[in-house]
Amino acid sequence: MKSSAVVAYLLFAAFAQAASLFGLNFPEPPAANKPISGDSPLLQCDIDQNQSLDVTQVNLVPNPPQRGENLTISAAGILQTTIEDGAYIDIEVRLGYIKLISQTYDLCQQLEENDIDGLECPIEPGVYELNKIVEIPNEVPPGKYSVIARAYNVDDEQITCLTGEVIFPAY
Ligand SMILES: *[C@@H]1O[C@H](CO)[C@@H](O)[C@H](O)[C@H]1NC(C)=O
Ligand SMILES: *[C@@H]1O[C@H](CO)[C@@H](O)[C@H](O)[C@H]1NC(C)=O
Repeated sequence: MKSSAVVAYLLFAAFAQAASLFGLNFPEPPAANKPISGDSPLLQCDIDQNQSLDVTQVNLVPNPPQRGENLTISAAGILQTTIEDGAYIDIEVRLGYIKLISQTYDLCQQLEENDIDGLECPIEPGVYELNKIVEIPNEVPPGKYSVIARAYNVDDEQITCLTGEVIFPAY
């Protein structure tokens, strides 16, 4: 099945990396936000910018995600322009006010390494659907996580901006 690689990677990377990486800065808050259809805490951000991926739906099971459980991500989107080698994604994850992650990743490389339904760049325009299961480790510290992920094509055209908050309560 075809998949929405971008959405998959945003979610996968944000949750997976939140488990293990620590840093020290503060992210810029996203500009204008807009809800995304479906059952998830995600919002589209930077909606004043042209974005080549229209994320039409995201569902998380369970929602909200739980530590020590598998998270099933289902997402759909419409891609308007080809995602080519050199595309990148900026991910910022905060735990409370502490920035855990602020990093730029090679989007195409991450897609291959994380095997998002075997998707490879170039990713042609079209309608994509995705189902992906990721395990949320027990070791994720409790707290309120804020994620901002902005993806860009090689020519700096914005692909998408997603943001959301997840609270992992202490047991
Ligand atoms: C968005 O794209 C349209 C059509 O390509 C263009 O007219 C408009 O200026 C762009 N807006 C921004 C904010 O870049
Ligand atoms: C998550 O799914 C994988 C693969 O289906 C399975 O091996 C693993 O036990 C599951 N983990 C939990 C916590 O349910």
